[in-house]
Amino acid sequence: MGTKIAGTGVYLPKEVLTNFDLEKMVDTSDEWITTRTGIKERRVAKEESVVEMAKGASLEALENAKVDPEDLDVVLVATLTPEKKFPSTGCLLQAELGAKKGYAFDISAACSGFIYALEVADGLLKSGKAKKILIVGVEKLSEIVDWTDRSTCVLFGDGAGAVVLEKSEDESDILASRMFSDGSLWDILYAEKCGYIKMKGRELFKVAVRNMEDACRKVLEEAGVSPDEIDLVIPHQANVRIINALMEKLGIPKDKAFVNIDRYGNTSAASIPIALHEAIQEGRLRRGDLVLMTAMGGGLTWGATLLRY
Ligand code: ACO
Repeated sequence: MGTKIAGTGVYLPKEVLTNFDLEKMVDTSDEWITTRTGIKERRVAKEESVVEMAKGASLEALENAKVDPEDLDVVLVATLTPEKKFPSTGCLLQAELGAKKGYAFDISAACSGFIYALEVADGLLKSGKAKKILIVGVEKLSEIVDWTDRSTCVLFGDGAGAVVLEKSEDESDILASRMFSDGSLWDILYAEKCGYIKMKGRELFKVAVRNMEDACRKVLEEAGVSPDEIDLVIPHQANVRIINALMEKLGIPKDKAFVNIDRYGNTSAASIPIALHEAIQEGRLRRGDLVLMTAMGGGLTWGATLLRY
């Protein structure tokens, strides 16, 4: 018995903020942002709430999976920008969707939130405690970005991605997954309760490459899969230079990495599900393919998932 991705969906805010727009706000340039990060533009949720974005992505995923919200056993939301202090964004989304049968909760693992959610959902499905689970990565980082700080405000974006998981009848499966954290490194990337994102960028860059490579190697080893068997890598979209360095370390050709950071920036927990949806829509990911997903974020948290789609 395996775990299958039955359907995916995204919600991307309408408002586009380009590097040229940012040039008018802080002392930066399109050239600096593009060469240092790979980002050209990002979405900013001016009109949309966190729950509205999560709902938009969820409805598309449920429709693609042909799953009725009332049949969901669990609604699981990964976010570092919850709608309210409480209740959880998961509970608010559950109400919006009318997913009355199941229960809902949030996972707080920053940019690694979606990888954490996948492993938790996989465990619930494989233990027989659930049959159908909706997981959502959603972020409204524009609310916790200091728009006067050029070292951070150029990096982040808003959006949501959703995935419906269910037991598989075919070879689809999560073959291996691992979650890691090191709380002693929390102050490399954090935001105080009512504060803005603070980040030690250079330090984070090195740790991100090292830890994501390590997590990827561990899941590959556990599943007995070699890097050259991987069809597609879907890395957290934080910086195209981090992605390129990771691919080099893993010995996987760069063109096997799915990259959309140029259009959305770093959307934290939403970045992998948005990329996963686009990869499927564009035909880059087909049934039977082996896909490696990995993320690293505040906590510090990191992890990897190896999936046969
Ligand atoms: N525009 C122009 N100049 C800038 C900007 C900007 N937006 N931001 C910083 N600079 C300047 C700095 O002031 C510095 O100037 P100085 O040399 O005169 O002091 C210079 O550019 C170099 O700054 P660095 O911070 O050293 O630049 P670096 O090459 O490390 O790139 C970056 C910064 C893009 C943040 C990079 O370190 C990085 O991507 N780190 C990873 C962190 C990350 O991705 N965080 C997101 C969340 S965590 C995650 O998801 C993994």
